[in-house]
Amino acid sequence: MLKVGLIGCGFMGTMHANCYKNIEGVELVALADLRPEKAQELAQGTNATLYGDGMELIEQADVDVIDICLPTYLHAKYALAAMDKVKYLFVEKPVTLTMEEGDELIAKAEKTGCRVQVGQVIRFWDEYVALRDIIASGKYGKVVNANFRRLSPSPDWGWENWLHNTALSGGAGQDLHIHDIDYVLSVFGEPAKLFSVKNLVGEENSYVNTILQYGDFVVGVEGTWNLPASHPFQATFRVVFEKAVVENDAGKFICYTAEGAEEIKIEKKELALAGGTAGNISDLGGYFNELYYFTSQAKAGAPIEQASLTDAVASLKFLLGKELSFHA
Ligand SMILES: NC(=O)c1ccc[n+]([C@@H]2O[C@H](COP(=O)([O-])OP(=O)(O)OC[C@H]3O[C@@H](n4cnc5c(N)ncnc54)[C@H](O)[C@@H]3O)[C@@H](O)[C@H]2O)c1
Repeated sequence: MLKVGLIGCGFMGTMHANCYKNIEGVELVALADLRPEKAQELAQGTNATLYGDGMELIEQADVDVIDICLPTYLHAKYALAAMDKVKYLFVEKPVTLTMEEGDELIAKAEKTGCRVQVGQVIRFWDEYVALRDIIASGKYGKVVNANFRRLSPSPDWGWENWLHNTALSGGAGQDLHIHDIDYVLSVFGEPAKLFSVKNLVGEENSYVNTILQYGDFVVGVEGTWNLPASHPFQATFRVVFEKAVVENDAGKFICYTAEGAEEIKIEKKELALAGGTAGNISDLGGYFNELYYFTSQAKAGAPIEQASLTDAVASLKFLLGKELSFHA
């Protein structure tokens, strides 16, 4: 049994706990949150020992792996401590608040040999995995242009409202836009040219629009989180190939060709959820896939090759280094 310690039992911690409860050979044995009621809630159906501050879990719990779902500005401090304790560590995205902290984590991982995965979950999301395969197959010819969008109502659930404090979360650019930027970089690599602008609402970075120019094709990426609560969360893409258009929008994943439109079928996993979920249950897929991969690698003593720490820090540096700048 792989013994998991989870630090941070808020929105994403709840999602992760529900995933672990559905993975065979994995046991949630330790939970930490400054709000005891949050840890108690997730402990239902487990024999987990509960801690307050995450450092207590790191110092005292008997665990094989640690998962950090703390607010972003706390990632580096807890990840550095956790790497002295365990050989496998999961850190939510964005991996750190600053590029310097990202480098510190890489250095620590090299020193300790700790294998670190970061929650760049889009790399594990079924439709995005399928799109990557379609692009690699070349069956519809070359990509002509592409568009990725992530539109969210205001994220008001955060502990002490940390998400709306750009100094603590990085705002929509670092927290939300990084999902699609990381995916685009993982599929297409670094662009030849880039144009990225962010829109401040008050002090907050709440809208980012980035255009990446790759020699003979262009990719647009848009992210915002200042929509009203009545607006649904939307993560969509449209990729125009020479011979087809592949679109994922409003729950429909469709390939349009000269012959007609055809739904691209994805086999969805049936999950026997052990607890409630903070997000939409249909969203568990990508989170489940990434944590299934993480725990499988840990059980096998194998390296973390997908959504690695190095990849995540590279995406963070790309975003923070080039955001709001013109590249002629
Ligand atoms: N992959 C995704 O799609 C996705 C989605 C949402 C959030 N996230 C990321 O997950 C991380 C957590 O975000 P969230 O939305 O769950 O935030 P949240 O505010 O809902 O949860 C954070 C929790 O940490 C607890 N906490 C704070 N300091 C602590 C400490 N020192 N020790 C123990 N517990 C402590 C808080 O009480 C709170 O319950 C962030 O990095 C965020 O960017 C990722």
